[in-house]
Amino acid sequence: MTLDAAVEPPRELLPRHIAIVMDGNGRWAQQRSLMRTAGHREGAKAVRRIVKACSERGIEVLTLFAFSSENWRRPRPEVEVLMNLFLTTLRREIRRLHTANVRMRFIGDRSAFAATLQDYIAKAEQRTAANTGLTLVIAANYGGRWDIAQASRRVAEEAAAGRLRPGEVTVELLHQYTCLADLPEPDLFIRTGGEQRISNFLLWQLAYTELYFTDRLWPDFDVEALDAACAAFASRQRRFGQTSEQVAGVADA
Ligand code: IPE
Ligand code: IPE
Ligand code: MG
Repeated sequence: MTLDAAVEPPRELLPRHIAIVMDGNGRWAQQRSLMRTAGHREGAKAVRRIVKACSERGIEVLTLFAFSSENWRRPRPEVEVLMNLFLTTLRREIRRLHTANVRMRFIGDRSAFAATLQDYIAKAEQRTAANTGLTLVIAANYGGRWDIAQASRRVAEEAAAGRLRPGEVTVELLHQYTCLADLPEPDLFIRTGGEQRISNFLLWQLAYTELYFTDRLWPDFDVEALDAACAAFASRQRRFGQTSEQVAGVADA
């Protein structure tokens, strides 16, 4: 256990919204001479663990990158396994999540998915819509650039219909059309698996998010590792462009 993990940050220093790039499933399996797909199945267990831990800690929003718009480029059998796993996990977990008062949301272009999967996604959202606990956002066939493009397209449609003048398009207005507009912005971004990149995850929303990278592979990401990430977050000073003194509330800042 790291020293960080031993210190539980006080409630007000916990992130309200955590966004995770769950990377390293393939390498986890390869290290054990297993098929990459065995890594994805083990990764699904880590999802269950981390969702439960976030719920218990009172985190408001957890956004998980499950499948990127670029992941279609993978070998077809791997994509098929991922789609099946997505469907079976959803079918199996929905009741448990609902009982745990979790509200489910999906972001990304779902029109590319099979009709059955689209159906389950819609049902999961409808069934849990009124829940008041953790909001669990699953990013599936999601890309940050797609998100900005779909927001811009909808703004352009409003302008073309005469409901909006181009001069009214501001940061705040465009934000209203992006995927997570109604939720608090991500406070903490975690990427497992050792790579230090965004891979087209939440580009718009990460503008002021604290970034945390760990070598731990996603199937090995446990509650202690989550607490270590939260402890690192709690130790940071978020300045949002201001000086350190201003943020600390020093009198003559
Ligand atoms: C992340 O693990 C899961 C998905 C992208 C769906 P990877 O499959 O990318 O694992 P590595 O990076 O190859 O180890
Ligand atoms: C990012 O991981 C996407 C998900 C975790 C769903 P990748 O493994 O696809 O990222 P790259 O290709 O290494 O950048
Ligand atoms: Mg990867």
